[in-house]
Amino acid sequence: MNKQKILVTRAIFPETLAKLGRYFDVESNQADDIWTKQQLIDKLQDKVGAFTFGLERIDAELLAACPTLKICANMTVGYNNFDLSAMTAAGVIGTNAPDTLTETTADFGFALLMATARRVTESEHFLRAGKWKSWRFDMFAGSDVHGSTLGIIGMGKIGQAIAKRGAFGFGMKVIYNNRSRLDVATEAACKARYVSKTELLQTADHIMLVVPYSAESHHTIGASELALMKPTANLINLARGGIVDDAALAVALKNQQIAAAGLDVFEGEPSVHPDLLTVPNIVLTPHIASSTVPTRMAMANKAVDNLVGFLLHGRAVSALN
Ligand code: DGY
Repeated sequence: MNKQKILVTRAIFPETLAKLGRYFDVESNQADDIWTKQQLIDKLQDKVGAFTFGLERIDAELLAACPTLKICANMTVGYNNFDLSAMTAAGVIGTNAPDTLTETTADFGFALLMATARRVTESEHFLRAGKWKSWRFDMFAGSDVHGSTLGIIGMGKIGQAIAKRGAFGFGMKVIYNNRSRLDVATEAACKARYVSKTELLQTADHIMLVVPYSAESHHTIGASELALMKPTANLINLARGGIVDDAALAVALKNQQIAAAGLDVFEGEPSVHPDLLTVPNIVLTPHIASSTVPTRMAMANKAVDNLVGFLLHGRAVSALN
């Protein structure tokens, strides 16, 4: 019997392609070309499945033009590239890769927090530029992480993993805000106290954003929220571009209204607001919070499991619709 045809839209581990090749006739994109929407539509013409990366907009227009498509399997946890109601209407399922990156992303939250609070990249640039002439009492004096107050906005699995690192690893006082309050046992396990968003903004020394992107979470942090933060506070965005109003953040950093920011995600990424590139008190990374080899492999495996599960056995392991 002929194998079903699937498309892998970007470059991926050779091991992942080999695994997919056991079950499917695979067209891949190891050159990692960035396709236009029309190119993606053309490539999907005879395909029943797509291995996707959270980047491809799967909407009514694409679905109408790709009548053979049955499943889009994101290797990411986030799925704001999917218009799930259009997919449901077209009879196409979307899947993601839950529970693959929680601890790795929480680790990275601390990498960004530490680098931001302790001015790691700023001081490295200074050193590389040959500007280090002697020791100085206040050279790159930053803020303490241990014993400080960590405010987490978005207390899902990643938020909870960050809370545990903060409370038990760094002796931080952890406060959080979330759409709904956690149950008492989970709060105790994270040693975290629920507070209003306003209290969190006004009292936290470090604010970590791990809320999923949606219309409601758009610009969770804008000019008025930045105005509530302490002038010594640091802001870390690990979640999604658009959760922070990047233009407002650039102004706040420039005016030293807050101390510093660490950003792994950006509005309109891979473009970065030009003013964020000119302020010194910022750490910028290109959406790599989940990027360790084992974790990216686990994410890819989940997408494979979803494609195989659905197309060969009629059941995806993590269907979204
Ligand atoms: C995800 O899985 O949503 C991440 O943002 C990609 O690393």
